[in-house]
Amino acid sequence: MPVMRNIGTLYQCLDEGGQGDVQPIDDAALVWYGERITWVGKETDLPTDGVDGLDDGEAHNAGGYIVMPGLIDCHTHLAFGGWREDEFAMRCKGASYLDIAKQGGGIMKTVGQTREASEDELFDHASIHRWFMRCFGVTTVECKSGYGLTVADELKLLRVYKQLAESEDQPGRIVATLLGAHVVPPEFKGNRTGYLDLLCEELVPRVAEEGLARFNDVFVEQGAFTPDEARRVLECGVRHGLTPKLHVDQLRDGGGAELAAEVGAVSADHLEYTSDNGIAAMAEAGVVAVTLPMASLMLRQPPLDARRFIDAGVPVAVATDFNPGSAPCHYLPWSMSLACMMNYMTPCEALKGATTYAAKALALDGQVGSLKPGMRADFIRCFIPSVELWFVQMAPSYIGDVYIAGKQMLRSRGMKEGEGRDA
Ligand code: NIG
Ligand code: FE
Repeated sequence: MPVMRNIGTLYQCLDEGGQGDVQPIDDAALVWYGERITWVGKETDLPTDGVDGLDDGEAHNAGGYIVMPGLIDCHTHLAFGGWREDEFAMRCKGASYLDIAKQGGGIMKTVGQTREASEDELFDHASIHRWFMRCFGVTTVECKSGYGLTVADELKLLRVYKQLAESEDQPGRIVATLLGAHVVPPEFKGNRTGYLDLLCEELVPRVAEEGLARFNDVFVEQGAFTPDEARRVLECGVRHGLTPKLHVDQLRDGGGAELAAEVGAVSADHLEYTSDNGIAAMAEAGVVAVTLPMASLMLRQPPLDARRFIDAGVPVAVATDFNPGSAPCHYLPWSMSLACMMNYMTPCEALKGATTYAAKALALDGQVGSLKPGMRADFIRCFIPSVELWFVQMAPSYIGDVYIAGKQMLRSRGMKEGEGRDA
């Protein structure tokens, strides 16, 4: 069995304990066999019997640095046609999300460009970003559709994700989410019910039948969908085996958190304007809150105060919201730093948010996001002695080795025994 020794600190990130309890073990070792972790503990306690055939030949030496679960980006819009960098310049001069949408920008602009793109073009583009994400330690990525908004174009996006999930060149887990209810497309202007009928009668059944998505998401906002419309789409998804997720309370309090609790959503995301009642409802129903600080920063929204959620007992996950307009950055560790600076989370809380609780936001808890026997051997090593120092420096270069299902996917320069302790 392969063993990684000489780990300065191993962050277990177990589900138990609160948001900030990442269960660090100093001077640790990690053993795995095939795709699964088999042993975690202090190196001095490494069993000499019981863990048969520890394979020092493979010499996975952590060099005294830190090891943690592979990061999980639980909210992205990975596949899309075209960027909207022109909107960045507009926003720098003070334009708002709705100002930009009124001038033909925003989601609808990407919808046009995505409809024009072929499945192969979308796949190539998504693959590049998936590759970068892995270099930044991300081993599981949730990916939404939502830029097609016709049956054919939504299926095209979801097939890109299926191809990515099955690609041997693109190791790591992909979790697909249908976001057919992102906005009402122009061809249904004045006929919102017609679009909802299309979603419920054609798209959702088709996606479920082809097994193209695990989750069903709706953007509840002025200019997108009302809570009643969302309820209809989400209930239809549930009948077809798709679990609800929601984009809510991003630009104002639209009662989205309460809706998430009512429909049994696995997560509610954005939440900048969520009320105390909404938070209490999420706590009661066990809905994970997903904070997307890059989008708050980019749109100049008042950031979510994670303390309100954590104090109420709501687990807070951290993700990028990677998309071509409001969060065009695939770098999850930067989002984790921002969660510390903007959402009032400690570095350990942000770490748990992008591992344990991100897995929960994808109903993958018990499989990935923690380092303990039985979990998938997805883990990373970073060239830094603590998560605190990593997140305060915001430097991507600290990502070292990335292991997915026990295989070393990204290998940093070799580190010899004892090296790196003082770096
Ligand atoms: O999560 N909030 C709605 N949807 C996306 C926006 C994507 C875009 O701007 O293209 C989001 O931020
Ligand atoms: Fe989003």
